[in-house]
Amino acid sequence: MTRTVFVNGSYLPETEATVSIFDRGFLMADGVYEVTSVLGGKLIDFDGHAARLERSLSELDMVSPLTMDALLEIHRELVRRNAIDEGLIYLQITRGNPGDRDFAFPDPYKTPSTIVLFTQAKPGLADSPAAKTGLRVISIDDIRWGRRDIKTVQLLYPSMGKMIAKKAGVDDAWFVEDGKVTEGTSNNAYIVKGGKIITRDLSSDILHGITRAAVLRFAREAQMEVEERAFNVAEAQGADEAFITSASAFVLPVVEIDGVTLGNGAPGPVATRLREIYLDESRKAAV
Ligand code: PDD
Repeated sequence: MTRTVFVNGSYLPETEATVSIFDRGFLMADGVYEVTSVLGGKLIDFDGHAARLERSLSELDMVSPLTMDALLEIHRELVRRNAIDEGLIYLQITRGNPGDRDFAFPDPYKTPSTIVLFTQAKPGLADSPAAKTGLRVISIDDIRWGRRDIKTVQLLYPSMGKMIAKKAGVDDAWFVEDGKVTEGTSNNAYIVKGGKIITRDLSSDILHGITRAAVLRFAREAQMEVEERAFNVAEAQGADEAFITSASAFVLPVVEIDGVTLGNGAPGPVATRLREIYLDESRKAAV
């Protein structure tokens, strides 16, 4: 089946969807994005993703081409047209096509932003084998730019990080800056010690994960203790458990960091429980 995608107001077969070579997303990575998961044909945490998108746009002085209500309808229409039961919706908004290359931002009222959405069917998304085995990660230097709280499409270093991990024969990498873990290449990072969940506090050093916000809320509601602070790799290696969260992975346990096995090497009870709660509650609240 040919995918139907959304480009600048039109639903088109993916083979007919085009964006200009002068688009600032293409030339300068001048754009923001969101990834929203779909379970049972419904959107998980749409409001959170929409709110973060608005913030990313405003931090970059970009103008949203559509209201958040219109965006919700486009998400739903793409789910319908592509018959997505489990999968992801990718949304990207760039500063558009000023018709030439120039470092200065174009006038947003003369150069409309470019908006693209497409679906990714992922049958079995909520049933990842990694939930049972856990992930193995390595730590690498965090050399990304300083505004990681803005969800921009500058993903070259995170891509390189995934490749470094792949070459090392592990599943993913955790970024380290000034001796402390910031986050994973495409997820937020957590450790658990003595029942307490520890994850880096929010700042411009990390992306403010929508899954992170939900998981911490569910953890607190379940009377689990949460501490938002930075931790280093040695502390993580000595933790009882570790895990990551993201819209595409939900909650996944981490069982090895830089070659050191955590606990008995199996996914821990806190990560496993949080994954269950997250999936249950998110399905209930899905739109
Ligand atoms: N990535 N940190 C980084 C660097 C990320 O790229 C992501 C998400 C997260 C988790 O955020 P959220 O819970 O809102 O998905 C944290 C998405 C899934 C991606 O780039 O595909």
